[in-house]
Amino acid sequence: MLIDSISKMRQVLSNKNNIGFVPTMGALHEGHLSLIKTARKHHEVVVVSIFVNPSQFAPHEDYDTYPRNIDKDYALAISAGADYVFSPSVFEIYGTGSLTHVIVDPTLTDILCGATRPTHFKGVTTVVALLINIIKPQKIYLGEKDAQQVIILKRMVKDLHMDLKVVTCPTIRDYDGLALSSRNANLNIQERHEAVYLYQSLLMIKKLYTLGELNVETLKKSFTEVLKNATLAKIDYVEILGYDDLQSMKTIEKKVLVAVAVFFGKTRLIDNIVLEGGE
Ligand code: PAF
Repeated sequence: MLIDSISKMRQVLSNKNNIGFVPTMGALHEGHLSLIKTARKHHEVVVVSIFVNPSQFAPHEDYDTYPRNIDKDYALAISAGADYVFSPSVFEIYGTGSLTHVIVDPTLTDILCGATRPTHFKGVTTVVALLINIIKPQKIYLGEKDAQQVIILKRMVKDLHMDLKVVTCPTIRDYDGLALSSRNANLNIQERHEAVYLYQSLLMIKKLYTLGELNVETLKKSFTEVLKNATLAKIDYVEILGYDDLQSMKTIEKKVLVAVAVFFGKTRLIDNIVLEGGE
């Protein structure tokens, strides 16, 4: 069932107490569908939200051009096992303007993607808190491709004692390793061809690490070297940070997140791997 009002959403869920929730901005791909399918296995009710959240886009970003196709997304979500697709208008969510925001500490939000998108995570945490408040799920399902988002939302849930669990599901990759993303559709043929080096470069870090290389600068340099094969690529960041706390280090001694963002033309792609460390 497609629902666009908060009151209707609350009404249909009022007597349910085993709800799995998959928040999305639509343009659903296999990555989203794997979250929905996983939720389906564990819950009486599965809710998918489709809301292109304006507050997580800066004015110069792609809010207006972000792909929207509610009919197609609705059909995909239902076929993957959703019971309800919640697709409210911006007015339904924010009215004439909300004065309330959920902000996680800048140590987590102002680095990596937050360094060039300073208001992004404030928009994400605010809308996810708001959606959780409407849907009241037992579990929320997030994709590991958005690693920083996962870390921040887990922290929000923990610090606000929200009564739910955050479940993460592995990144789904295309045949050549490129992480699925709604933004891949914006790549032209050459950009798409070269985007394969994003994952190849991450795998080089993993290979060297497995061979015993623990120096962060050396590992970051190996990423840059492999990515030189992609003539159109422009690195936004490549970082190796402590998992959970996102603190920098010189030598890997514990579980780390290797997170990268690279422009191919105007399209900025992110990806990551986790190195388990010696723990
Ligand atoms: O990952 C996304 O698609 C969005 O950031 C989310 C979690 C749906 C919040 O708008």
